[in-house]
Amino acid sequence: MATRSITVQTSPSLALIKYWGKSDIGKNLPATSSLAVTLDGLFTETTISTSETDLVIVDGKQAPQERYAPFFNNLRKQYGTHSKFSIDSRSNFPASAGLASSSSGFAALAYGCAKLIDPNAEETVISECARLGSASAARAVYGGFTILPRNGAYAQQILEKSHWPELRIIIAITKSSEKKIASREAMEAARKTSPYYAEWIAQSEELFLHAVAACKKRDLDVLGPLMRQSYLMMFSTMFTSTPPVFYWEPESIALIKACEDLRENGYSAWETMDAGPQVKIVCLERNVSHILETLKKRSPGTTFMISQPGNGPLIR
Ligand code: DP6
Repeated sequence: MATRSITVQTSPSLALIKYWGKSDIGKNLPATSSLAVTLDGLFTETTISTSETDLVIVDGKQAPQERYAPFFNNLRKQYGTHSKFSIDSRSNFPASAGLASSSSGFAALAYGCAKLIDPNAEETVISECARLGSASAARAVYGGFTILPRNGAYAQQILEKSHWPELRIIIAITKSSEKKIASREAMEAARKTSPYYAEWIAQSEELFLHAVAACKKRDLDVLGPLMRQSYLMMFSTMFTSTPPVFYWEPESIALIKACEDLRENGYSAWETMDAGPQVKIVCLERNVSHILETLKKRSPGTTFMISQPGNGPLIR
């Protein structure tokens, strides 16, 4: 059969309220509800071709087959096909460094493979396929603001990117090397060993519900403290795992402190972090230049990118 190809561009999904922990490991179902925004300007570009065998190349390197096998097997089952796929994927931001590269990576894979098989593939089915690869990827198959409910099979878009045009996300890249512990391993260690894990699961739903309401109202002063509580509770489960997981670097703390000082001076700058040392600062367009100037002074070696709510997958 003739080879068919498609090229897809997807942006990563930044969680404002975090998914951390699984309610079913085999099915990769999330134990907490997450609220996220798809990031404009950062992207993964993936070319997918039908092939004799499954082969995944990420940033020029062959990726381990076992990481992708459950995804491909489920996709074939879902769409009733025997097709195999050859993948070539590149991102314009560092991979596996806590910048949600697995969200944009698996979203591109799910979207591209599904569209190759069935041009009318439904978004919720694509999201479900993406989740089997990486749960955060279930959200990255949409633009704007998204949710993935706890135990949810697929994510949904709750608000278009145009809902909050003033919102900005400053991405502070403190260190771009690959992390030593994958988020998948770290969340599993937290589930098994952290005495705070049960409390994190118990409290995160309330944070999620309030954050969704704040996002709908475009109220950053309400959303910000909820975001902060979410990422700090998530990290508390890592710090208290055995052995502990510690992704932060001195620059991460310098940036957290800088945000605290900015807020004391009346600037709404709310940081969040994921499984890595990078810091993402959520703020409003009118304050970006002052906030950026302050952050640069406080962490001179850091690279900054400015993002805003972005689009879902694009076929190139
Ligand atoms: C901290 O989606 O990478 O970024 O489902 O095991 O692949 P797997 O995990 P992954 O975890 C993301 C965790 C997070 C928070 C979030 O994006 O909600």
